[in-house]
Amino acid sequence: MKRSLLAATLGALALACGSTSLPPENTGTIPFEPHRPTPSGSTTVTPYTGSNADVLLAQLTYPTGLDVHRKLVMRTCSGTNGVCHNQKEYPDLHTPATFVAAIGAPCNVQSGNASGVFDRCERLGDRFRFAEQEFREIEIGWFELVRGETPELDPKGTRPDEGTAGLHLYLHDPVPVDQDRINVTGTFIRNFIDDRGNVQTLAFASYKTNWWVLGDKRHLFAEVNENQRDSVEGLVASGIVQGDQNRNGTYGARVLGNTVPLINPGKPEASYLVARLRGFMGADTVPGTRMPLANQPPNVPDMLALMCFIQGLDPTAAQWNLESAIDYNTCTYSENPEALSLAGSGDTWSGRVLPLLQSNCGGCHGGSNPQAGLDVLSGTPHEVYQRLVLKPSSQDATRNLIQPGSLEKSYLYLKLTGDGSVSGSRMPINPLNGNASLPDADIKSIENWIFLAGAVEN
Ligand code: HEC
Repeated sequence: MKRSLLAATLGALALACGSTSLPPENTGTIPFEPHRPTPSGSTTVTPYTGSNADVLLAQLTYPTGLDVHRKLVMRTCSGTNGVCHNQKEYPDLHTPATFVAAIGAPCNVQSGNASGVFDRCERLGDRFRFAEQEFREIEIGWFELVRGETPELDPKGTRPDEGTAGLHLYLHDPVPVDQDRINVTGTFIRNFIDDRGNVQTLAFASYKTNWWVLGDKRHLFAEVNENQRDSVEGLVASGIVQGDQNRNGTYGARVLGNTVPLINPGKPEASYLVARLRGFMGADTVPGTRMPLANQPPNVPDMLALMCFIQGLDPTAAQWNLESAIDYNTCTYSENPEALSLAGSGDTWSGRVLPLLQSNCGGCHGGSNPQAGLDVLSGTPHEVYQRLVLKPSSQDATRNLIQPGSLEKSYLYLKLTGDGSVSGSRMPINPLNGNASLPDADIKSIENWIFLAGAVEN
């Protein structure tokens, strides 16, 4: 398409040069048709011509998926080197090609810690069996390699426990083996799809060692000998697919039956990327801090562009073209884009939350001797922010005063609602009757800021 456009332009140029019939001078307007070249692969869509300003702005700012990547994804996430998703962390979204590769790709593949994994990102786990024993392969829930030297173990003496150095496997079903310890070959099995599209079963690793059958027989422990250490490290590095990656007992792919990808073509609400921006998917809370962590969260036109882009992706397509125009006219979210607002209405740190805290709490939580060591008054807004967000409460060291994205882990918030799990009084204490609370609207603002806006400093 590009090439033919160029050829046509050159042709026209040649024609113009060779032509003797130039337009006569001073005869009025020069015929000018502002034909902007259509990018290759673009499908023609009927533009949105309604009156909603957010839709019009989204359509203007983000005509194509390429714009969504360049102006939204790059800005909120991958742009700043090292902040997130710039090669360091899966998903890498920093080029248009990697962004396209996120369509249909699994989520939480490389999550920093188990508890950050969303059940619906879990895939069917790899399977395990003992080569010499007759039982069906059992799905692996999760594994842990405890590094170090495996101590001398003995069924009648020192037995392994959860912390013993070696490879621990936690399986979906108990192993039907009677012995406590058997010296057999343990085999790891995976299904894969071959070139012809057939499902093949592959035993991708096996270890002959002492296998201990612990607890309810779903916990296996493998002694790792000196000469096996490298191959076990290799196995762990190459990845075992864990059916219960977040170790919460729910095997997401089995129980929920519908594992979601990073970007789910046609289904923005069932796309993990969107869920991480919103903090929820359907009725489920998505674990982990709301994205973006350190940048301005997307506004309504931004979110609309992302939702309409994903909704417009054909789930049956073999590949996707970011240059295709986003169809805002038929996009269902164009009907009420305001519902996509992540931040509620103006519940920002500097605009609302800080003034609220300072006027209602500063009398006691400020000055030379702030109550409970909490000072919301002195210093710059940034310094106050830094004293609250991700800083442990003095009354409960297990919780932070503000935990972005989580109300139940934000101790300061729970002090405002009079939650039963906090110590001391409900805040703010009214010095006259010792008993008061903030108006609902104010609590709601703080809630929106922590939960919907991810407690960003804006
Ligand atoms: C009249 C004084 C007073 C006011 C006003 C007040 N507090 Fe407090 N605050 C206290 C005292 C005293 C404590 C310690 C005893 C307790 O928890 O009841 C405390 C403790 C706290 C703690 C626990 C600190 C920690 O690190 O564990 C938080 C959080 C808190 N207040 C938040 C607030 C907020 C938010 C407001 C304003 C909406 C507020 N307080 C208004 C007196 C006050």
